[in-house]
Amino acid sequence: MRKFVLALLAILAFATPASAQTFPSRPITIIVPFSAGGPSDVMARILAERMKVTLGEAILVENVSGAGGSIGVTRAVRSPPDGYTISFGHLGTHVANGAIYKLGYDPVADLEPVVRLPSNTMIVVSKNAVPAKSLGELLAWLKALPAPAAAGTAGAGSGSHIAGLYFESITGIKLQYVPYRGTGPAMNDLVAGQIDLIVDQLSNSINQVRAGTIRGYAVSDTKRAESAADIPTADEAGLPGFHMTLWSGLWVPKGTPQDIVTKLNAAVVEALNDPGVRKQLENLGLQMTPKDQLTPKALGDWQKAEIAKWWPMIKAANVKVE
Ligand code: MLT
Repeated sequence: MRKFVLALLAILAFATPASAQTFPSRPITIIVPFSAGGPSDVMARILAERMKVTLGEAILVENVSGAGGSIGVTRAVRSPPDGYTISFGHLGTHVANGAIYKLGYDPVADLEPVVRLPSNTMIVVSKNAVPAKSLGELLAWLKALPAPAAAGTAGAGSGSHIAGLYFESITGIKLQYVPYRGTGPAMNDLVAGQIDLIVDQLSNSINQVRAGTIRGYAVSDTKRAESAADIPTADEAGLPGFHMTLWSGLWVPKGTPQDIVTKLNAAVVEALNDPGVRKQLENLGLQMTPKDQLTPKALGDWQKAEIAKWWPMIKAANVKVE
């Protein structure tokens, strides 16, 4: 009889999904689909440090890079829907990739939105050897080149690639894309002068621009970034209408219990409201998400709206991937 009761309890314990009361009871992993040291990785690690305080378990950041971020997102989509695997992504991975790759998943239907994270304005940066001191001079230099300039990206469909396509569509200037597993390593090559430019996330370039190891020309926002007030907007610098914000977000596999999604959302919102965390993120030039846009539903609606907005431009670029 005693053996039968114990067996029954074991079956019940295994069968009952983890509920928010007991969640988390072991470390959680955030899959960042780009290499360590890049803008996505840096933001994920800042948030993870604070989320572990609220959730009482370690939050591990795992970098699973490649194919514009789709390899890392695939890993997350195929993980158990129990809240222990979180997909970090952005306009590139959870919007653009679907317009470029034959993904083995649907970034809307196969993932549960958790929260929209702070966003980056984009910045046009070049190696210091480029003979240009303003955006106007840079555009003239690019137009006069015998062959397209080498533009670093984090792979086809990544944020830096979509920003490059958008830059091409507005300037009419062709770029030769050089793919990396993230804009962290792309930045190393830009500083070393191995590539000519990146249309990058401000948070990835800002410290190099401040250090004078690369040159910053303009940001893709309608107003200057407080943390980089010396960098003009593209409108001011002679490229009117070049407006792009690279927003990020967190998702979990479809089927993850709603009460766990709510608990994860609350932990991130608490982190974003932490003055120390905000200072770190704002110092990197990141823009906080409006409070009414911090719900899981708001991210889901935003993702769909961004797909409708960006897919036509991306599809028109006719990007070829293996
Ligand atoms: C990164 O973290 O490397 C970026 O988010 C890559 C990109 O999308 O440009």
